[in-house]
Amino acid sequence: TRTPVNVTVTGAAGQIGYALLFRIASGHLLGADVPVKLRLLEIPQGMKAAEGTAMELDDCAFPLLAGIDIFDDPNQGFDGANVALLVGARPRTKGMERGDLLAANGGIFKPQGQAINAHAADDIKVLVVGNPANTNALIAQAAAPDVPAERFTAMTRLDHNRAISQLAAKTGSAVSDIKRLTIWGNHSATQYPDIFHAEIAGKNAAEVVGDELWLSDTFIPTVAKRGAAIIEARGASSAASAANAAIDHVHTWVNGTAEGDWTSMGIPSDGSYGVPAGLISSFPVTCKDGKYEIVQGLDINEFSRTRIDASVQELSEERDAVRELGLI
Ligand code: NAI
Repeated sequence: TRTPVNVTVTGAAGQIGYALLFRIASGHLLGADVPVKLRLLEIPQGMKAAEGTAMELDDCAFPLLAGIDIFDDPNQGFDGANVALLVGARPRTKGMERGDLLAANGGIFKPQGQAINAHAADDIKVLVVGNPANTNALIAQAAAPDVPAERFTAMTRLDHNRAISQLAAKTGSAVSDIKRLTIWGNHSATQYPDIFHAEIAGKNAAEVVGDELWLSDTFIPTVAKRGAAIIEARGASSAASAANAAIDHVHTWVNGTAEGDWTSMGIPSDGSYGVPAGLISSFPVTCKDGKYEIVQGLDINEFSRTRIDASVQELSEERDAVRELGLI
C-alpha cells in the first residue's frame, strides 16, 4: 500500500474547513487511491471544535483516511507536511484599514511560512485560501527561503469556476464545453476574468458572446463581486464553493490539466505578461507531473491590458505595504 500523504489544513474548525476536510478524507484532493493523514492546525480557541470535526471524520470510516492529528502550534502542524492548505486568516472587521488587515495576517502567515520552512516535507505544496490570499501567500513564501518559491500559491480557482458558470449560463452552454478561461491578477474586486482566449465547444468565447458591454458591465463585476452577493444571500461567506475550489486547485496541480485546457492559479510571477517578478498573481497555467507552467504567447488586447495592469498595481501596493511593515 502507498505511504499516506500528510495534508495540513489551517483554520480547520472554520466553515471552509468543515466543507473541506471530508472531501480531502474521501479522496477528492489527491486521488481515489491516495491515503491521507490529516494534520489540523487551529488557534487554541478553535481546538475543541476541531476535535469535534475530527470525531465526525472518524465516524465516516473513510478507507483512505490514515490518521488525524490536531495542533495549535504551527511547528507541529506543518511537521512532515506534503500539502498545506492555509485557510485560517484574520477577517476584515468594520473600520479596519488595509494596513491593519495586512499586519494582522502577517502575524499569522509569517510564522506559518517559517514553520513550513523548518518542518515541512521537501516536496511541500502550499495553497493559501485565507484572504488577502495573494499577499498572505507572499508573506508565507518570503518567510520560507529554503522552499522553492513556486511551491507557494494563492487561490483564484473559485473566481475561475464562478466565471465559467456565468459564461455557461449566458451562452446556454455546458460548463464542460468551456475551456481556457483565465483569471488574472489579485483575488479581489480588481481581478480580471478573461474570456478572449476562452473557448466554448471549440469556438472563441468572446465571439460567441459578441457583446463587450456585457463583458464590462455584467460579467466582470458579477464574477468579481460574487463573494459579496453570497454573503448577502446566505448571511455567511462562501464556504462549500471555496472548499470545492481548493480541492480543484490542488487536484489539478498534482494530477494535471486536461489536454488543450488550462486553469488559473495565483503563483509567483516570473515577469511574464508584464507582471513584476515575485508578485503572487493569477495566471493561466497548465499543470503536469506536479508542476505548473504559465501559458505563454497569448495576445493581450487593450481591454485586457488595462484590467490586468490595474489588478497587478493593487498587488504591488499590497507588497509595498507588507514590506513597510517588515513582513517580507
Ligand atoms: P471562519 O472564520 O469560519 O474560519 C477561520 C478559522 O481559522 C477559524 O476556526 C479560526 O479559529 C482559524 N484560525 C484563525 N487564525 C488561525 C491561525 N493562526 N492558525 C490556524 N487557524 C486559525 O472562516 P472561513 O469562512 O472558513 O474562511 C477562511 C478564509 O478563507 C477567510 O480569510 C476568507 O476570507 C477566505 N476565503 C477565500 C476565498 C478565495 O477564493 N481565496 C473564498 C472564500 C473565503
